[in-house]
Amino acid sequence: MSNLKDIWLQCETIIHSPLTLKEKMQAICNFLGSQMPAYDWVGFYLSDVKNKKLHLGPFYGKPTEHTSILYGMGICGQAAEAQKTFLIDDVTVEKNYIACSIHVKSEIVVPIIKNQVVVGQIDIDSHTPAAFKEGDKQLLELICQEIATYIE
Ligand code: SME
Repeated sequence: MSNLKDIWLQCETIIHSPLTLKEKMQAICNFLGSQMPAYDWVGFYLSDVKNKKLHLGPFYGKPTEHTSILYGMGICGQAAEAQKTFLIDDVTVEKNYIACSIHVKSEIVVPIIKNQVVVGQIDIDSHTPAAFKEGDKQLLELICQEIATYIE
């Protein structure tokens, strides 16, 4: 399966299923990680809005030591602060970047926004340079919009 429309339909089914929020997030990670060849690590971070911190939630791929990230730090922290998607073709030229693995070449972080507040984000790493295109951005932004409706 590689058609983005089909991928979206499957994700939509997961999001609107009777699973708990955490289970939905885990199922999305597993589904994207296994179906999208360039998605080498897929994870959700959840916001501690008061303390401006991100905490690692469900993920697919190798465990990371970056389980807690301050707003403003790395690509994840910048996306949380700016409330917008960060699509990085070449992580090696980024100054404000937190490396999870030396194999990672490109990354996309999409915030989950609820009532104008960033409540979490989806972060995807790829071992392929410039792996993420406009279609990936649209897919991930749709996923984040839909999942936001289930976040309290
Ligand atoms: N690279 C991210 C850190 C999280 S890991 O990719 C899982 C960043 O720069 O914020």
